Amino acid sequence: MIISIDGSSGSGKGTLARGLCGMYHFKHIDSGLLYRKVAYYYLHAKEDLKDVHSFIKNIDKINLDEVSESILRSEDVAQKASEIAVHEIVRNYVNDEIKRLVIDQSSEYKGFVIDGRDIGSVVFPNADVKLFLHASEDDRLTRRIQQNIELKIDTSHVVDLQNRDTRDSTRKIAPLVVPSGSVVIDTSLMSIQETLSKAKEIIDMNL
Ligand code: C5P
Repeated sequence: MIISIDGSSGSGKGTLARGLCGMYHFKHIDSGLLYRKVAYYYLHAKEDLKDVHSFIKNIDKINLDEVSESILRSEDVAQKASEIAVHEIVRNYVNDEIKRLVIDQSSEYKGFVIDGRDIGSVVFPNADVKLFLHASEDDRLTRRIQQNIELKIDTSHVVDLQNRDTRDSTRKIAPLVVPSGSVVIDTSLMSIQETLSKAKEIIDMNL
């Protein structure tokens, strides 16, 4: 079973995805983290790989798992992720990785919860359950600041969230949209528990 969760930064996708995976013993794939890994290594690439195309063509030579999550969660890395995510070659690389992870682990897990910006619209348009999370700007900012405090990372760039959301929603390839057939959940006034219960209700109808 594939469950897609799309939405903008700080809408609560990660928290919901982790909660659902705990509930159903499904596997969580955080596509934003994959874009962040690519961005981090691209930021640190040698001069001859500063062209995105050359970088992606050589990406198999890099072990993308050597960087800690708190570094990947910084807003600097997120901004670079959003910048490189406009390139088709980057998106194709990440999408292939997501599909490979699903295939490789399909005997171990009965379901996958995949969160991002284009999961229900582009990567898995036939997902069994498609969720789209919406939250007010104030709530999203508050959550991101809270998450940064918990991860002990700088909160001063959180204001850049809006630039990133604008870029993510207006890019030509795979912009953030409400995928057709998705259920929109407005998490602004909902607790984590309420959001989980709502999502569970929808998933249970499709099990
Ligand atoms: O979800 P997260 O904030 O970690 O994503 C970082 C960036 O990666 C986003 O701002 C977006 O530009 C990009 N992204 C994307 N498509 C996805 C997931 C993330 O373009 N499916």
